[in-house]
Amino acid sequence: MSKIITAVVLAAGKGTRMKSATPKVLHAIAGRPMIHYPVRAALEAGAERVVVVVGHGRDRVESYLRQTFAERVKIVIQEEQRGTGHAVLMALPALGVPSGARVLVLSGDTPLLRGDDLRALLTAAEGDARSMLAMLTTSIPDATGYGRILRENGHVVAIREHKDCSEAQKKIREFNPAVYAIDHAFLAAELPKLTPNNAAGELYLTDLVTTAALFGGVVDRVADASSLEGINDRAQLAELDRRMLLAIARQHQLAGVTIREPASVEIHDGVTLGQDAVIERNVVLRGRTTIGEHAVVDVGCVLTDVAVAAYAHLKPYSIGTDAKIGEKAQIGPFSHLRPASDVGEDAHVGNFVELKKTRLGKGSKANHLAYLGDGEVGEGVNVGAGTIFCNYDGFKKHVTILEDGAFIGSDSQLVAPIRVGKGAYVATGTTLTRDVPAGALAISRTKQENKEGYAERLKTRLKAGSSMAGSKAGDSGKSGT
Ligand code: UD1
Ligand code: CA
Repeated sequence: MSKIITAVVLAAGKGTRMKSATPKVLHAIAGRPMIHYPVRAALEAGAERVVVVVGHGRDRVESYLRQTFAERVKIVIQEEQRGTGHAVLMALPALGVPSGARVLVLSGDTPLLRGDDLRALLTAAEGDARSMLAMLTTSIPDATGYGRILRENGHVVAIREHKDCSEAQKKIREFNPAVYAIDHAFLAAELPKLTPNNAAGELYLTDLVTTAALFGGVVDRVADASSLEGINDRAQLAELDRRMLLAIARQHQLAGVTIREPASVEIHDGVTLGQDAVIERNVVLRGRTTIGEHAVVDVGCVLTDVAVAAYAHLKPYSIGTDAKIGEKAQIGPFSHLRPASDVGEDAHVGNFVELKKTRLGKGSKANHLAYLGDGEVGEGVNVGAGTIFCNYDGFKKHVTILEDGAFIGSDSQLVAPIRVGKGAYVATGTTLTRDVPAGALAISRTKQENKEGYAERLKTRLKAGSSMAGSKAGDSGKSGT
């Protein structure tokens, strides 16, 4: 029968080597604070409770965890960071489990760790009833900084921290990724006995490996290093971020998405992509973005929390935040969809068009150079080049309503609040300050006057004026224009 599983994630450390005002575990990997991933891995592996030990920057870490995992995570505070052993000791009371449970212990700075790695570890632990401690181990060519695995007759007997290693031990490539499954009763009995007899003067959790080796032996499971490296500085942060992004891109590729150049795109954890979607170079997809089947996201687009429906086409360099794009809609190049924009089915938003809190109905078009803020645009509406929804009077935002089939001529200003009725026609260059009834024509222009033959006379006069000004400028030593 399998044991109850709980988990402790250590995240109280300062992360000195990050040289940052932000706690290390909140630095982002693939769009989420790195602490997200070990917590998620523990939950995926079946942990009934995850206790996260926080300390440095604890308010921010705690608020992220509560917001994201709510009741599934318990927070414990380690006031003073006295080492990994001390951190787990602080977590023990919060575990609240019957004896016989198995405790997964993980670090908050190992974001590539997967639920599968943990399940494999738990299975290995199950296989040896006498052993009190099971751990993952792995090897890399240069394990500088990590605790090294010391073996005797093939069995793990101790972990030696880098700073406590002899020169010969520093050459050992097998290191401790700090992923353990430990018997709860053993933890409770042994943690209080730890002493700080090491170079750092800390209580090392790793000393329990020595104790467990003497008891019933240590179960070790060799795992793939690619998911077990930790982050201590910003170079490692960038490296693991890239590695995770490539893994995410690959998953999407294998699920039927065309990603032209995976090394150039950034598709964050949590983004979903439909089959046959096409992601071109230098695209960034963040947050809760979803891309529908057969949609095309062309070069250089940056989308944050955008829902793109099937067959939509985002042309190059379009930017969207918290927006919706309907089926077969066309966006860009160079469109800007700001929060609460909702582009309907088959609608078009063209170059240098900015939308904010505006709904564009089915088949409506705003193809060139426009600002549509706080708008409700019906179906089949044509918004001409250079149209501005004048939504802001310096104090309040006002709404512009364009009913189905309305036509807005180029270079019109619509001073909100305002409504243009069904099928109405607003002539080019109109400044609209009153509602337009359905089917009406609105035009506000000063009447044009043509003065026959006046062009030549005007030019002659202007020329004379400018040569006088030029000679004056010459006198004072400046160049005339
Ligand atoms: C630790 C291991 C080392 C292993 C490495 C893997 C020990 C003594 N060493 O070293 O064998 O190779 O991880 O990445 O365990 N933390 C606390 N409270 C503390 C100290 C640390 O919560 O008082 C947390 C940190 O926030 C971090 C984790 O524990 O998330 C590991 O601490 P860190 O200082 O990074 O340990 P390493 O030196 O990397
Ligand atoms: Ca570390």
